[in-house]
Amino acid sequence: MTGALEVRGVTKRYGKLKAVDNVSFTVEPGQIVGFIGPNGAGKTTTMRICATLVYPDTGDVLVRGKSVLDDPREVRKMLGFMPDSYGTYSNTTIWEYLDFFARAYGLRGDARARRVGEVMEFTSLAPLQEKEIASLSKGMKQRLCLAKTLLHDPPVMILDEPAAGLDPRARVELRELVHALAGMKKSILLSSHILTELTEMCDSVLVIESGELKASGALADLKRKLRPTALVFVRTLQGVEATERALLELPGVERVRAEGEGVMFEHQGGPEGLAATLAALIRVGLAPIEFTPQELDLEEVFLSLTQGKLQ
Ligand SMILES: Nc1ncnc2c1ncn2[C@@H]1O[C@H](COP(=O)(O)OP(=O)(O)OP(=O)(O)O)[C@@H](O)[C@H]1O
Ligand SMILES: [Mg+2]
Repeated sequence: MTGALEVRGVTKRYGKLKAVDNVSFTVEPGQIVGFIGPNGAGKTTTMRICATLVYPDTGDVLVRGKSVLDDPREVRKMLGFMPDSYGTYSNTTIWEYLDFFARAYGLRGDARARRVGEVMEFTSLAPLQEKEIASLSKGMKQRLCLAKTLLHDPPVMILDEPAAGLDPRARVELRELVHALAGMKKSILLSSHILTELTEMCDSVLVIESGELKASGALADLKRKLRPTALVFVRTLQGVEATERALLELPGVERVRAEGEGVMFEHQGGPEGLAATLAALIRVGLAPIEFTPQELDLEEVFLSLTQGKLQ
């Protein structure tokens, strides 16, 4: 089965610069994929190619099997693209704006009124529908842009930095909207610079740098790949030295070192090995009050996968 969004070997050059270099990936229905990479990595260019706004030099993108090269009009019907910046419209209210785009999408009569109502409801813009767009805050404008993107109920959504400039509450709200859309089995590709947010929002990530995909997959898998050995912090009632002494006697335990009120060590034995280590500490008479495997956060994943090269 082909995915809802399938990017196949896409390359785009601007003069000598390879903005996108042989990039391939798939986003399945109901999946939220995060696109991360430093400034100039090629995220927007890739997304614009998916949205039929830029032609690739080589490769193709299929949206539900339709090609952006051969069938761009069909692709547009199935795709919602939220760009990273969009025009400002003065003397236009939220309702007028959405109604205008609903017309452009070919919605007529009752169907149009119903759909405009639905997207305003979904994005909580209904109470503000008479407000002028020029008077909206950044967060409200982002919602409006998302509402516009949803008018034709596209199965595939491409959101370029939808959370940029939003305050924490607005980000949580956006996250909930995106999850609700995934629950409707839409395929969602979204880029962001706010890494913690991608962790909470996405099932898997694509890391891109200098136009090349550096890594892809579920975050947990990427973390495991980058840190195959577990790093564990342990603190016991008996204190640092007794804990260190006990750990040094145990199989599989490596690189034991004091850290604050506890001890950090590494272990290669997987979850079973860690459980056995904890049981052994208790058996030799220690009373652990903390035993915490350290998670790599997305920022560390990002820094280890990219080199900070600008192009
Ligand atoms: N129309 C264009 N003409 C020439 N170069 C371009 C054009 N569009 C993009 N580029 C270049 O292609 C590269 C990738 O740009 P792109 O906008 O895709 O990066 P990005 O990953 O979205 O970055 P950011 O995180 O800053 O949004 C950059 O070096 C950029 O300067
Ligand atoms: Mg960009």
